[in-house]
Amino acid sequence: MSFAIAIDGPAAAGKGTISKAVAAHFGFAHLDTGLLYRAVGAKVLDGVDPIEAARSLVAEDLENDALRTADVAQAASRIAVIGEVRAALVDFQRAFARRAGGAVLDGRDIGTVICPDAEAKLFVTASAEVRAARRHAELLGRGAEATLQEVLADVKERDARDAGRAEAPMVAAVDAVLIDTSSMSIEAAVTAAIAAVEAAR
Ligand code: C5P
Repeated sequence: MSFAIAIDGPAAAGKGTISKAVAAHFGFAHLDTGLLYRAVGAKVLDGVDPIEAARSLVAEDLENDALRTADVAQAASRIAVIGEVRAALVDFQRAFARRAGGAVLDGRDIGTVICPDAEAKLFVTASAEVRAARRHAELLGRGAEATLQEVLADVKERDARDAGRAEAPMVAAVDAVLIDTSSMSIEAAVTAAIAAVEAAR
């Protein structure tokens, strides 16, 4: 039996943490689909053609710590507007969503394009300021150098590109449960997410 949970939303809203916790709670597999776009973005920064990079992606490409940098995130969001890049990544994501035993996929278009028939859909968001502050703390924790202003500008630029693109824009599915984590602890957000999935079971 398959059971797909789609978790979409902007950068640093808490999607990743919530997705991992929800997957662990239900014993489901988890796919961070942002890693697919980041892996393509990283290859493009190395001079590879984006469509070629998307078509030749392999699982090992996703296990790279260098995918977590701000430069790769921006490169990911630039190649994510290309229809052929997105198309090359669809089958892998849909197969993952329908694997036996259940799956959690997090991204921008999971509930709308990749898995519109997902059994549970969440849209996790937070204000740009709160998200930038979280991302800033995370970057400093990893020893990266950036000011809060730079991170906020980065977050806003990526939001605008992801929400404004023609192909699979970031938008809440009409049937998604909205979770605004701006003034929530991570524990409260995880509890709300699990409750929303339970309600759909
Ligand atoms: O989630 P993450 O910040 O790692 O995603 C990096 C970029 O990949 C996003 O800014 C977005 O442009 C793109 N992306 C996407 N569709 C997804 C997941 C990520 O377009 N399902």
